[in-house]
Amino acid sequence: MTAPTVLVTGATGTVGSALVPALQARGATVRAMVRDPERAVPGVENVVADLNDPESLTAALKGVDAAFLNSPSAADAAALQKRFADLVRSGGVSRLVVLSQYAADIDSPVRFLRWHAEVEAHVAGLGIDHTVLRPNLYLQSLLGFADGIAQGWFGAPVGDAAVSAVDTRDIAESAAAVLTTAGHTGRTYTLTGPRAVTHTEIAAVISAATGKPIAFQDITSEQFAAALAPFMPPWQLEGLVEDYAHYARGEAAEVHAAVADLTGTPARDVADFARDHAAAFGA
Ligand SMILES: NC(=O)c1ccc[n+]([C@@H]2O[C@H](COP(=O)([O-])OP(=O)(O)OC[C@H]3O[C@@H](n4cnc5c(N)ncnc54)[C@H](OP(=O)(O)O)[C@@H]3O)[C@@H](O)[C@H]2O)c1
Repeated sequence: MTAPTVLVTGATGTVGSALVPALQARGATVRAMVRDPERAVPGVENVVADLNDPESLTAALKGVDAAFLNSPSAADAAALQKRFADLVRSGGVSRLVVLSQYAADIDSPVRFLRWHAEVEAHVAGLGIDHTVLRPNLYLQSLLGFADGIAQGWFGAPVGDAAVSAVDTRDIAESAAAVLTTAGHTGRTYTLTGPRAVTHTEIAAVISAATGKPIAFQDITSEQFAAALAPFMPPWQLEGLVEDYAHYARGEAAEVHAAVADLTGTPARDVADFARDHAAAFGA
C-alpha cells in the first residue's frame, strides 16, 4: 500500500493524537475523526463523526483506504466497534486496524478483555484485511496520577507485580507501520515496553527524572475505587479494578518484540517516558 488515506478514530485521544503525526511521517494522508469540530486536529483533514451515529461513520469512511479503530470508554464499546467494523466492510475500505488490549480473552474475568475479545472475533469473521494491536498498560496512564506524584506519592492495588507497560507513542508508531506497510493481514501484535517493571520501580524512575522523592504505595482495591469513584461511572470503575487485579496477579508481565519489529526502533523504556514527562510530574 503506497501513501494510503487513513481514517483515525479517537484522533484527539492518547494513541490517536500520536498516530496522526506518525502516519504523516510515513507519507500517509490522514483524515482525523472528531466528535467536536472545536477539537479538530490541526494540519490534517478532519471529519466530524460519532461511533453512535452510523450515518456519520459511513460518510467518514468514504474514500479512505484504511481505518484505525480505537474504542472509547463506553459501556457499549464492543457493540459500537463491531458496527464500525461492519461499516468498514460495507464501505469497501481495504484495511482495518483495531486497537485491542493485552491478554484480550472471551473468558477473562476482566470485562474490558472480554469486550475486546468479542470485537476481535467479530472482525476476524468479516473476511476483511484486518490487524489487531494488543497494547499493555499505557505508561501515559500514569499522567492521571501526576498531581499526586508531583506531591511525592501514588498508589494502586498492584502489589509488587511487574507489568510490561508500553508508551503510547510506540503504540501509535506500530499502528502507523501496520497501516502503511504490507504483511499484517490477520496478524495480532502484542505491544509492550522493553521490560516489565513494578510500580515501586516506576516510582524510582520518575523520582530520578524529576529529582524529587516519590513513593509508591500498594493500596487495596477498595481504597483505589473510593479514590476514583468521583471521576468515573461504576461500570468503568469496576472494570479498572478488574484491570488492576489482572496486573496484580502477574498476568501482564510478558515482554514482546512487536514494537521493535514493526517500527525498527526499540520500545521506549519507562525511563524515556519519565524523562519526557518530568515536567508533568512536578520536575
Ligand atoms: N489506558 C490503558 O492503559 C489501556 C491499555 C490497553 C488498551 N487500552 C484501550 O484503549 C482504549 C481507550 O483508550 P483511552 O482511555 O486512553 O482513551 P483515548 O483514546 O485517550 O480517548 C478516547 C477517544 O475516543 C473518542 N471518543 C469517545 N467517544 C466517542 C464516540 N462515541 N465516537 C467517536 N469517538 C469517541 C474521544 O474523542 P473526544 O475528544 O470527542 O472525547 C477520544 O479521542 C480502550 O479500548 C482501552 O481498552 C487502554
